[in-house]
Amino acid sequence: MKLEDVKQVTVVGSGNMGAQIALLCAQLGGFHVVMNDMNQELVNAGLKRQSDSLQKYFVDKGKITADQMKEILGRIRGTTNLAEAASKADLVIEAVFENMALKKDIFKQLDAAAPPHAILATNTSYLSVTEIAGVTKRPDKVAGMHFFNPPAVMKLVEVVRAALTSPETASVIFDLAKKLNKEPIYCRDTYGFLANRAAIGLDDAIELVWAHVAPPADIDRAMKLGYNHPMGPLELGDLTGVWTIMAYGEEDRIKELGFHKGYVHPLIKMMVRAGYTGGPNKKGIYAFWDDVLSKW
Ligand SMILES: NC(=O)c1ccc[n+]([C@@H]2O[C@H](COP(=O)([O-])OP(=O)(O)OC[C@H]3O[C@@H](n4cnc5c(N)ncnc54)[C@H](O)[C@@H]3O)[C@@H](O)[C@H]2O)c1
Repeated sequence: MKLEDVKQVTVVGSGNMGAQIALLCAQLGGFHVVMNDMNQELVNAGLKRQSDSLQKYFVDKGKITADQMKEILGRIRGTTNLAEAASKADLVIEAVFENMALKKDIFKQLDAAAPPHAILATNTSYLSVTEIAGVTKRPDKVAGMHFFNPPAVMKLVEVVRAALTSPETASVIFDLAKKLNKEPIYCRDTYGFLANRAAIGLDDAIELVWAHVAPPADIDRAMKLGYNHPMGPLELGDLTGVWTIMAYGEEDRIKELGFHKGYVHPLIKMMVRAGYTGGPNKKGIYAFWDDVLSKW
C-alpha cells in the first residue's frame, strides 16, 4: 500500500495527542478521519478542542476562512464504537493511555475489525511496538508513529520500525508524517526510541549509537526537532571534547555531566583510546561512527 491509497484514517483516543493528530490528518492530510474514545463526552471534548484550536490559531489569525474551517471539521467524525471506527480504515493511529495491557487489547480489536490491508500505528512514547504488534495477525503492518507534544506544533515524528514491520508499512507512515508537515526520522523499536531517551542524558545518547539504533546525526536531529534543543547532545560532545573528560574523569564529574548510571560507557573509552576525543577540529563520535561503528 502507498500513502495515496489511504482515504480514511482512524484515530483511537481523543485526548491531548489523539485530537490534535486527528485534526492534522483532516486539515493537512485531507483524509476522512474517524476519532474514537470511550464515551460521548470524551469524543465531544476532543471535537471541541479541535474546533477551538482551528478558530484561535487559523481563523482568528486570518490563515483560513470560516468556510474552510467548516470543511476541515466536516471531514472528522466521532464515535464510541471501536469496531465501527476501524471497519473502513486504511490506517489507524492509536493514542490511548500509555498502558501495555490496554494497548494490546485495543490492537486485538483493531486487528479483528480493520480491513486486512489497513496499517495499525501506535503513538506510544516508551512501550514496545513489537510486543503490541505481537497480538495481531499482521505484525508487518504495525509500526510506531511517535508524535511530540504538542503535535500541532512539534516537527518531529519518530517512525518506529518494530521487529516485523515491513519497509512498505514504515514508508507509508514516513510519507504520512511528511504530508502532515512533520520531519520524520526512522528508528528501531527500543525503549523510549530516540528523542525521549537521548533527552534523559548523554549516556543514553551514547548507548543509542552503540546499539546502532540510529547514527549520531539522526539522534541529534531528533533532539533538535523534538525538543527544540539548539544543538544535539552528541554534536555538543564533539564540539566540547567532553568525551576525554568522561573517559578519564572522576566519578562525581562524570555524574555531573549526565552519566547518571555512574559508569563510563565502553564506547567512550574505545573512542578516546582510538584518538577520537572530540574538541575543536578533532575527530569525535560523528567521525567514529563514520569510520568504525557504521561498518560493524
Ligand atoms: N502527552 C504527551 O506528551 C505525549 C507525547 C507523545 C506521545 N504520547 C503518547 O500518546 C498516547 C496518548 O497520550 P495523551 O497525552 O494524549 O493522553 P490523554 O490521557 O490526553 O488521552 C488518552 C485518551 O485515550 C482515551 N482512551 C483510553 N482508553 C480508551 C479505550 N479503551 N478506547 C478508546 N479511547 C480510550 C482516553 O479516554 C483519553 O481521551 C500515550 O501512549 C502517550 O504515551 C504522549
